[in-house]
Amino acid sequence: MDKFRIRGGKPLSGTVTISGAKNSALPCLAASLLTAETVTLRNVPYVRDLITMRRLLEDLGCTVLVPELRTHRISAASVEQFEAPYELVKTMRASVLALGPLVARFGQARVSLPGGCAIGQRPIDLHLMALERMGARIEMQAGVVVATADRLKGADITFETVTVTGTENVMMAAALADGITHLYNAASEPEVVDLAELLIRMGARIEGAGTPTITITGVEALGGADHTIIPDRIETGTFIVAAAITGGALEITNCNPRHLLAVIDKLRTVGVTIDQTNDHKLEVAVSGRLKATDVTTAVYPGFPTDMQAQYMTLMTQAEGDSVITETIFENRFMHASELQRLGARIRVHGHSAYVHGPTPLTGAKLIASDLRASASLVLAGIAASGETWIDRVYHIDRGYEKIEEKLRSVGAEIERVK
Ligand code: UD1
Repeated sequence: MDKFRIRGGKPLSGTVTISGAKNSALPCLAASLLTAETVTLRNVPYVRDLITMRRLLEDLGCTVLVPELRTHRISAASVEQFEAPYELVKTMRASVLALGPLVARFGQARVSLPGGCAIGQRPIDLHLMALERMGARIEMQAGVVVATADRLKGADITFETVTVTGTENVMMAAALADGITHLYNAASEPEVVDLAELLIRMGARIEGAGTPTITITGVEALGGADHTIIPDRIETGTFIVAAAITGGALEITNCNPRHLLAVIDKLRTVGVTIDQTNDHKLEVAVSGRLKATDVTTAVYPGFPTDMQAQYMTLMTQAEGDSVITETIFENRFMHASELQRLGARIRVHGHSAYVHGPTPLTGAKLIASDLRASASLVLAGIAASGETWIDRVYHIDRGYEKIEEKLRSVGAEIERVK
């Protein structure tokens, strides 16, 4: 298993280029199952989860060509299998995104039920409820969701909880359903909007993506399209924190600052200088001390849960007490105890973490527990004095494209040890 060795304490400086959004590329790849024509996706990040999604599509019978790095040309003209098996779903929950497209286009899908994961239970009951409303028959067979349908029918669906992949799954299914589907309390994350834009290019009729009410008028068939994935807003936020926590200065390019206004606002309150030089570029610097500031995660456009761990690391270096409250997942503070091992003062109680800063961080051996937690440990490592080892970095490889190379290119001392 790969590890990272980090010698921290160096201010970062230079330019970092942001990759395409993992959480947008995943549903967009799944959407290619909705048509027999070729879908071309550009700016697909080179991360482990995308390799897994590509493997899933190939196992189903799709042809996936990669004519150049980060471009995927997918043909689902001859799909022969309709199953996302446990081996794939257990490594990547987003495999459930095959469910909606498969049942909508082929009338059948078998998707292994994802179990809980490090950050919480993460059920998919809302995905299943919505598909049932649209006329799918759902059965559980030995841990596998078996969905069958004649043509799905449009329906009015209210999500009890805002769910990102649930909204995406149902939006894809509704695109090929008979009649109109209204999704209420839908997720309005930029990744949902990006998927809707791809679907519209494929011929879908979708209105309201980016708001809590999405209306989809089903069509008989969808066609091919060429689409460029949006920049990764979480990677962008992670690099803003990287600049801030090392007292460095970074230019961050190929990003979309409009997609992370809540993060930028919060970090400015903390004392980070963030200048938007154009629509795709940010300049980040720190002058003076960082100020402890509370944060509560929320659905978009609120502060993203996927930035909570990185923010906690930053708060260990800010002056004063801060309260970090997690409202999306029930168990997303695994990084807190690892940060304590570096010297951080954090107390977790219920859904909140109480951080007292600043405390000097000193390198130690750490274990990554999930994707964003591992990012927070890398940030701690580059801020800490001495040497930090991070084990199980396969978590970070799921969603960050070559984070160690990007960090090294701006002055961090970090290496991958096989
Ligand atoms: C997506 C993102 C993930 C991010 C999360 C929240 C992808 C591939 N992953 O995950 O990075 O952290 O959104 O922004 O896009 N829930 C239910 N029943 C359901 C579905 C969800 O109770 O059927 C609950 C979940 O347990 C969780 C909350 O709803 O508490 C939000 O989860 P959801 O938005 O579905 O997360 P994902 O789509 O899995």
